Amino acid sequence: MTVHTLNVALTGASGYIASHIAVALAEDGHWVVGLDNFANSSPAVLDRIATIADTEMPFAELDLSETDAIANFLAANKVDAVIHLAGLKSVGESVDEPLHYYENNVAGSISLLRAMDLANVHGLVFSSSATVYDPNQASPLQEGAQTGPINPYGRTKLMVEQIINDVAATSALRAINLRYFNPVGAHPSGLIGEDPVGPPNNLMPFVMQVAVGMRDEVQVFGDDYNTPDGTGIRDYIHVCDLAEGHVAAVNALAQVDTANSINLGTGVGSSVLEVLAAAEVAADRSIPSRIVERRPGDADISFADPTRARELLGWEAKRTLAEACVDHWRWQHNNPQGYETT
Ligand code: WQD
Repeated sequence: MTVHTLNVALTGASGYIASHIAVALAEDGHWVVGLDNFANSSPAVLDRIATIADTEMPFAELDLSETDAIANFLAANKVDAVIHLAGLKSVGESVDEPLHYYENNVAGSISLLRAMDLANVHGLVFSSSATVYDPNQASPLQEGAQTGPINPYGRTKLMVEQIINDVAATSALRAINLRYFNPVGAHPSGLIGEDPVGPPNNLMPFVMQVAVGMRDEVQVFGDDYNTPDGTGIRDYIHVCDLAEGHVAAVNALAQVDTANSINLGTGVGSSVLEVLAAAEVAADRSIPSRIVERRPGDADISFADPTRARELLGWEAKRTLAEACVDHWRWQHNNPQGYETT
């Protein structure tokens, strides 16, 4: 009989980040249950997680708005903590459809907090984002850096952090808000990975879709930034490091009294051209690209100061950009059309 340390529920359980967290939690001896509405992901992921983790994850197809059903699911599974990953995450889409983003990301999180209260679940790790920071400030970014999101997506993340902080201040809720920098890579098995719906907004999945022949060329959004090679610099963190950061956060909840925001990043900045070069090595082929105009709102440089994660969680990123490209390529090459690959 395996003794499970904690019963952990994942919202958005069939998503890119959540699927890797499910595997990491199982490897750490926790019992994992999941819920998702499959708005942005495929049910096929659940079988892949079960194959890697060698255990079936109890799962319910639920929307965040279904407060009572979520409360019943949490209570029935004797959940100790929730990792809240369900959310819409396209910056561009959030500009076009702000109400959809506020309703899903903010109202949905309020519904989840109510469900947790009804089910007496008081541990929460929230998937926040480095987009809560004002982009016009120097990196590395510490958690006390100036916040100032410049799009509705980033504003929903900061609002939910603030709601969580206020609830934790006057209730039994203990919470950690994890601010992701740029998640990339895939589990080394090649069975789970990033599978964007439609043309990828983010750099790495777009680069890998060009490498595998699904798209013609990478558009490099500007080479006149104030950086050594002129292209934007970001903090690309391997999704397995990110997942292990969530395991460390769940394990640390018992020591948290109210709420904390913590960066999950490598502390290393890499440029667009450096990502392209690392991807060409991983895929062992040249990847066509063209310099085009800047994308509005993009900062020159953004990368984390990961000190607080090391001090509070005993966690730091271990994997390199090169390793992330090798793992991302294995996933893309084995699954050219993502989970729909026949
Ligand atoms: C990275 C770099 C672009 C695409 C986003 C969002 C949000 C957040 C982190 C979760 C930049 C350049 C990109 C392309 C390019 N995730 N680029 N050609 O903008 O740092 O942040 O991811 O919260 O999704 O805030 O990531 O991957 O879009 O861009 O040249 O086709 O690559 O200019 O310098 P970003 P990104």
